[in-house]
This record gives sequence, structure tokens and C-alpha cells, in this order.
Amino acid sequence: MSLNNFKIIGDINLSGDKSIAHRALLLSSFIKGKHTILNLPDNEDVETTLSILSQYGLEYNLENDVLKVNSSNVSFKDLDIYCNDSGSTARLMCGYLAGLGVDCNIRGSESLSKRPMDRIVEPLKKFGVNINCDNGFLPIKIRKSKKVNSKFDYTLKLPSAQIKSALIFYALSLNGVSTIRGEIGTRDHLERLLLHLKYPIAISENKIAVTGNYSLSNSLNINLPGDISSASFLIAATILLKGSKLTIRNISVNSHRMGFVNKLIEMRADVKLINRRREYGELVADIKVQYSDKLQGVLVNSDEVPSMIDEIPIFCVVAAFANGDTKIEGIQELRYKESNRIEAIISNFQNMNGHIECIDNILLIKPQKKMYSTSIKSFKDHRIFMSFYIANLALGNFYSDSLSDRCYAKSFKNFIDVMKGIVFEEV
Ligand code: S3P
Repeated sequence: MSLNNFKIIGDINLSGDKSIAHRALLLSSFIKGKHTILNLPDNEDVETTLSILSQYGLEYNLENDVLKVNSSNVSFKDLDIYCNDSGSTARLMCGYLAGLGVDCNIRGSESLSKRPMDRIVEPLKKFGVNINCDNGFLPIKIRKSKKVNSKFDYTLKLPSAQIKSALIFYALSLNGVSTIRGEIGTRDHLERLLLHLKYPIAISENKIAVTGNYSLSNSLNINLPGDISSASFLIAATILLKGSKLTIRNISVNSHRMGFVNKLIEMRADVKLINRRREYGELVADIKVQYSDKLQGVLVNSDEVPSMIDEIPIFCVVAAFANGDTKIEGIQELRYKESNRIEAIISNFQNMNGHIECIDNILLIKPQKKMYSTSIKSFKDHRIFMSFYIANLALGNFYSDSLSDRCYAKSFKNFIDVMKGIVFEEV
């Protein structure tokens, strides 16, 4: 079932994973010395984290995608920081800076200032950190406090890797072994980086135990695997366009990020992982994908949502071209991303004559025979933009020229260029 004249052909590499990059940058400033990060992604969120760390004295040299840093002169002093649009930067910084005992005001863009921060402020407050936010939102104020510095035992209520990682960063600066329990089954990039550095962190099915104040002198020298969240847009386009074949090499296939690919396979999409290997503590593979004309609707239950949390918009696009309905349960967290993604997805589908509805945090997608391409309503949200860019392509409308809306640069600056390199018109 292909409705258009375009196809995808290519064999490509993508730039490094954004989530791993934030964590690697924070660790390289934390561990005094020289570190090298290869395949650093070129996107605005990572630029934000790097720029904040340079204000604390991180020296760096970035040539192409090779970042060499020297953190010998980093000193965590009292400073106000501006996190632009990056939720990961703001939330990770809370735990990181709270542990380092500095005064800091954390601010961000208008959009970031509408995203919930109490989820990280509350646990830190409970541990005695002098931290406050403005009714649950930015700005956040952290002030030095004599009370802190002893280990904690906390049960995570939300399946959020940002909160989990912020708490691990906090634990690194404390005396004793801190324990995190509860909803820990989310992306574990920080845990893996620490294990790779031989840091004393113990991970079991239901708890993470972090030894604090352990002095570490190992250098971080890593090559970041490609970002599976960026890859998901290209995978979706390949599945939907007749005659398409794409290989994406060297992609992070961390099991906590594989919900999208696993569901596509369950829907009978032709996606294969080859050359599976472990690099720098992460699972990496090449992804081979082809046009798939037998897509079936599927059920995604709430437990499966965290492993595809950022891919729900593009997953809805794929599901809209399947045979049969798709149901996604437990999608409440989508309200708190760069936009209210539930509203953004519904609104774009309505414009295209698609049918999607949300009742009680369940999304129901009913594929329609006649969907139309139309302009993209991004809601200034990178993943909404890229998802409906692909939906348009699947409906025969290829936006190959420069577009005034560049919100995709938040995570994938060269998205349009990558698309231009792999999309071919059928004659
Ligand atoms: C991220 C975790 C997820 C994800 C975000 C990046 C991370 O957020 O949506 O894009 O790097 O830890 P939550 O932790 O809020 O689920």
C-alpha cells in the first residue's frame, strides 16, 4: 500500500545519541581530566549542556563531531544557568548541582518553563536539599545547605530516566551508598557509562545502588552510537514508501529504547538488527529496513510506553497506514513533552483527514483510506515536526526545500539534508 512516488534508498550513519551525549558531557566535567567523545550529535540540546559546562570552566575543542575536553579547571561555583529548551539539561542539572553544593538559579525558554519540574525538585527536597521551584515549574533555585550529604533511599514513582539519572548524579557526590528503587526500568545510559568507567554502581532488577564520593580518575573515551530516536523517522519512512531499502549503521539498540522497533516487528514490518555488538558498555547494531506492505494494527500497553516514549508520534504515523486499528495505552506522559503531544498528534491527523482519538489516556488510531498531505503544525516540537514531515512524504508531499520552521534542530539539525540524501523520486 503505497500512495506516492517517492522511495528511500540508502546506507547511512547517524550522529550520536542525544541522551548518552548529555550524560557523557556531565560525567566528563565531573571527572577531572581529559576526555574524548566521538560522534557528538550536532543539535541544540547538546549545545546547551556543553555551553553550561563551559561556564563552569570546561575547556573543549570540537572538530567535526570529535569533542576533546579538559575538565582539570572545572570549578562548580555559584552561577545562574539557562537551559534553553532542553528538559534533560534542566532536570539532570538539578541533581548534579545539588550534590556539588552550589547556589544556582535554573531558567529556560518559555516552552521549557511550562514543563513539570516538581518531579525532580520534590525528591531532592525530601533529602534535605535547599531547592525550590515556581509552583512546579522553572525557575528552580538551589541554595547551599548544611543538611545534605548523606546517602538516600528513594522509590521512583514515575518511569522517567531524567529523574533517575538526576538522582544518580546527586548520589555521586554523597557519602555512603544511595539506593534507587521503583520505576527504574527506563533508559540506563548513565548506569552503563558508570559501569564502563568501572565506577562502583550495582544494578539489579529492582534497585540501583550508587556508592558516593568515590574518586575516579579514568578518562572517558567513547564513540557515541547513532541515535535510535532520530533513526525512527527514517525507519518509518522506509516502511511506508514502496520500493524502499535502508541500512542505518552503528545505532544504539539499548533495550530500554527499542519499543518502537519491537512494535514495528510485531506489526510485520521488515526491520532487522544485524552485527549486534557491545561498544563502550552500550548495545549497538546496524538496522536494515525495507518497505513493508503487510502492516497490521497492534496494541501497545502502558508498560511498553517508556521504551518508545519519544517515538509515539512517529509510531502513530506508521499505525495510520496499517491494516486495522492500533491502541496505545497509558500515554499521559506525552502531555509534558516539548508540546502536549496528544493534542499535537490529534490536530495534525485531523488536518490530514486521519482518525485518531484519545479517551482516558488511551490513543486509538483508525487508519483511513483517504488521507491528504498538508502543512505541518509543529507546535514548536521537533518530534511532532519530523513525524508529520514523514506522514506528508508517505502521502506524496516531499518538503525538500528549506523550511522556515527549524524546530527539528533541537535533536536532529541535519534532518532535512539526511532526507534529501535518501529520498528518490520514482519515475
Ligand atoms: C530522556 C528521557 C525521557 C525522554 C527525553 C530524554 C533522557 O524523558 O522523553 O526525550 O535523556 O533521560 P522522561 O525521563 O521525562 O521520560
